[in-house]
Amino acid sequence: MASLGVNLDHIANVRQARKANEPDPVPMALLAELGGADGITIHLREDRRHIQDRDLRLLKETVRSRLNLEMAATPEMVDIAINTLPDMVTLVPEKREEITTEGGLEVSSNKAYLKEVIERIQDAGVLVSLFVDAIPKQLEASKNVGATWVELHTGTYAESTWERKPFELAKIQEGCVRSKTLGLRVNAGHGLTYQNVEPIAAIEGMEELNIGHSIIARSISVGLTEAVREMKNLVQNPRKEPLFGIPYT
Ligand code: PXP
Repeated sequence: MASLGVNLDHIANVRQARKANEPDPVPMALLAELGGADGITIHLREDRRHIQDRDLRLLKETVRSRLNLEMAATPEMVDIAINTLPDMVTLVPEKREEITTEGGLEVSSNKAYLKEVIERIQDAGVLVSLFVDAIPKQLEASKNVGATWVELHTGTYAESTWERKPFELAKIQEGCVRSKTLGLRVNAGHGLTYQNVEPIAAIEGMEELNIGHSIIARSISVGLTEAVREMKNLVQNPRKEPLFGIPYT
């Protein structure tokens, strides 16, 4: 059964839209945990467009579940991770002009650099996950550079039409099997919603789903605790019948 990591970046997005003090992702993390979040995820971006350094500092002190820090593999971010010691670092690609993370990390052509970065973070006692596309080349490279986890990018699955979804789902399923065969542990995330999460949650061996935008959007109607509770229920009890024509378990 997969667990649920709740990404709080979009709470910080609302705050930063006014450069104000509220809403504050720090107390909101406690509400997410009350709703059943198994982990809290934040992305400290180089341009600090949403999450701020103070959020990371305070969440490190207050999160009672697990804190997953998404970040680019830059020297500045590696120093921050080593000084803060979250439970996990997820390395992601980062472009200033993008609205959200696009595509997975290019591991296979950056092996020497990533290996060094991963070793530094792991030597500090922090688990490392790599956000990658579910393709053999990147999964094998992830194993080679010493990552313990991969987070499979579900963005293409999420954005595809319902006709196309079975094919994109199959890629994630195959990626999960391939990762496990390589000895990697597997999370997934990006673009998952109350409508499309169940087939991904039902994948055998999937350990955690990281979900942000959809939960924060729903929390405007029902509050964060309830929005997390509803998502957790779907993640833990995904329907067994296929949502779009082919069996997915
Ligand atoms: N996983 C990773 C690596 C991400 O970069 C993001 C977006 O910050 C998410 C999961 C969550 O994506 P979403 O907000 O679309 O649920």
